[in-house]
Order: sequence, then C-alpha cells, then structure tokens
Amino acid sequence: MKVLVVGGGGREHAIVWKLKQSPRVEQLYCAPGNAGIAQMAECLNIGAEDIEGLRAAALEKDIDLVVVGPEVPLSMGIVDAMNEKGIRVFGPNAKCAQLEGSKAFTKAFLARHGIPTAGYREFTDKEELLAAVGIYGYPMVIKADGLAAGKGVVIAETREDAVKAIEEMMGQRVFGNAADTVVVEEYLSGIEASMLCFVDHNTIVPMESAQDYKRIFDGDKGPNTGGMGTYSPSLIFDEELQERIRTEILEPTLSGFQKDGLDFQGVLFIGLMITDQGPKVIEFNNRFGDPETQSVLARLDSDLLDIFEAVVDNRLAQQEIRWGDRRAVTVVLASEGYPGRYPKGREITGLDRVDEDVVVFHAGTKMCDGKVVTAGGRVLCVTATGVTHDEARARAFANVERIHFDGAQYRKDIGLIRKH
Ligand code: AMP
Ligand code: GLY
Repeated sequence: MKVLVVGGGGREHAIVWKLKQSPRVEQLYCAPGNAGIAQMAECLNIGAEDIEGLRAAALEKDIDLVVVGPEVPLSMGIVDAMNEKGIRVFGPNAKCAQLEGSKAFTKAFLARHGIPTAGYREFTDKEELLAAVGIYGYPMVIKADGLAAGKGVVIAETREDAVKAIEEMMGQRVFGNAADTVVVEEYLSGIEASMLCFVDHNTIVPMESAQDYKRIFDGDKGPNTGGMGTYSPSLIFDEELQERIRTEILEPTLSGFQKDGLDFQGVLFIGLMITDQGPKVIEFNNRFGDPETQSVLARLDSDLLDIFEAVVDNRLAQQEIRWGDRRAVTVVLASEGYPGRYPKGREITGLDRVDEDVVVFHAGTKMCDGKVVTAGGRVLCVTATGVTHDEARARAFANVERIHFDGAQYRKDIGLIRKH
C-alpha cells in the first residue's frame, strides 16, 4: 500500500516510524515531513494546511491511505475533501473536528451527555465577561473557543491577570477569531493524564496511557508548551480508575457521538483531570498527542496500518491491538527561548552517537548544506524503552546528553516519579 502522512513534527515522525515496520506498506510519503522523516519516507514539499495541494498529490501518487497528524487540516476539512475524491483517510471529518476546534462545542457535548467535566459558561461579549470575572473564584480558567496553537488557555491567579487575559483575547484579539467566543470554567485540581483512543463508528478503544509535561521548566514551572516530554504507561491508572473512565467517560462519549450523528473515525485524545471526585474531562483533541505518541507507539506491538484500516472500515471491534510490557520515556529538546521566540538554523550534532534501539524523533529540523539544523521550537524527541520505567528514563537521558545544539534546553525531571 501507498500511505501519505500529513504533518512534519515529532508525532508524524513516530507515525511514519511505526508504519515503516508494516510489511504491507510499500511506499511511504510525508508532507511536508522534516530531516528525520526524510530518512524513512519520501517527503513532499506541500504544507500540512494546503488541502488542495495534498489532495492533488494523493491522486497523482495513487495513495491508498492518508493519515492526518495535526489538528488544523482536520478542522479545515481535509478528510471531507479527500473523501469527496474517494481517497481513504484516517482522521475525523470537519464536523467531528469541532471537538477540538471549538471548546464551547465540546463543553455542550459533555454537558448534554452527562460526562464529568468542569462547570462552565460561554461568553461572546467582552463587557459581560469582564462583569463575570471571578465567577468561579480563583484561579480563573479562561479559554479561547477556537484553535490557538495550544496557547489559548489562561489560568489566571488574580483578578488583574484575568482582566488582562480577557483584554488580550477579546480586546486586542491576539488569537483573532479564535476568541470570538470565550469559555470560562471551574478550576479543577488533581492529577492530569492524557488518554489516546482509537475510535470508529461502533467502538472506542483506549491506547496505553501516557503522562505529558506541559510546562517548559523543571518542577512544572514557567509557561505552557506543546509538551516537553512524556512517559508511558502513566503510573496512576490502576484498574479501578480505568473502569471508572470506561463507564463514566468512554462509553457515554461513544454513545453521545452516535446520538448526535458525529461519525468520528480516528484518534480521540482525552485530556483528563483525576480529581478527588473521580476522573473529569478537561478537553478533547481529535488527533494523536505530541509528544504522547512517541512514547505510546514505542510500546505498540501490532501493525499500525492494520489498526488505521480497521478504523477507516469500521471494524475496530475485531482488530487485535497488542502492547508490549516495556516502558517508554520521551524527552524533548527545545530551542533556546521556546515557547517564546527562538532562533533557527543551529547545527545539531551527536545524532550518530545515539544507541541503536533509542529513537530520536525529529520535531523541528531540516537539512541545510548537508547538515541537520534546528527549524522549530521543539527540535528533537528522544524516546527510550526499558524493562522498567527507571531503565527507560536513564537511557533516555544518557542519550539526550550525547546530542548537541547551541541553546538546547530540556527538562531534567521527565519521568521522575513524585509521590502525589
Ligand atoms: P487545554 O488546552 O484545555 O487542555 O488546557 C491547557 C491546560 O490548562 C490543561 O492541560 C490543564 O493543565 C489546564 N486546564 C485547562 N482547563 C482546566 C481546568 N478547568 N482546571 C484546571 N486546569 C485546567
Ligand atoms: N501534548 C499535548 C498535545 O498534543 O496537545
């Protein structure tokens, strides 16, 4: 089969790496890809949001399956556009993509189907919102409704911070239309965990769990990022919690999709807060997480192409999905200054000194004069596995230390288990 993966980050590198292991994949393309992906797939110079260009390439190359990594093309309707021409795609259509594309849409869905989540209110008028500052006390959770590259959520500790955030969102419109509607939520305390699920019209199947680290600095300090590291499995998912998630969240979500006519196919990423009252949904994303995917797919023993095809054909219930016992830890190396402004074009060295069974997924790299150079905020993701969590962690860091580029920053506490 000929497969085209859309995207060019660490998540897409992990998907390409896993698909490459499938004996049924004859030809693998990635658009636009990056320097690491180029070693495993033919990269096409087409942006992930150029829906027309991607569709034309899929037709021209006679692609059998398109796999979409990032959320923006999904919200733009890439799946509908491909399906119109009879091209098979792994990913949700535009209607379902609202589950990530609009926080208000998701909150209404959760409320309608009795799925546990934080209480919320929705605002379209700045003055009305300013009058409601502090309605749920502090910290005040303020969210731009639409896609804002992971930056649209503000947790304001004080009234002053809340007013400033509201002015930025609805006054200065720093997120453009994405903050035409703003959602305010109750603040949830607890332990956060990500759960990725394969979903087709009849079935929802959780993958192995993963723990993400969103803040830039050790000890969960500093601003939010796309994710600075992960480990899998998450160590908080005991059987009782998994059972509660299944009955209180997964089953009502699937039946909610069915009742609302949401024909979801793809990956549903559930951001959870495990509170004293049980698990609650913080958010839905409609794609693989980055860098959760790197740790999770490193533990998958089944053929990923088989799973993708089962989802597209709505036979996920019959598809066997096997996971290995090994543990995985992923450490992200980021550019100096990330998540703020960062330089590009810095030479990366030491990639040839990495252990054979440790994988370096490229997130933001490109080739320049025969050298691999930095080309993004998150640059590399080093994923190691081990029989124990501690072994995986030690191996990940031992290999991270062999890689160099000027200004590289990474969290030293990824996978360090704190007693909660
Ligand atoms: P989201 O983009 O909705 O996942 O929000 C980004 C981050 O903000 C989450 O990963 C949480 O750490 C935090 N967050 C979002 N909503 C809440 C909430 N209601 N209570 C506490 N923290 C939240
Ligand atoms: N790591 C969080 C995300 O992919 O949204």
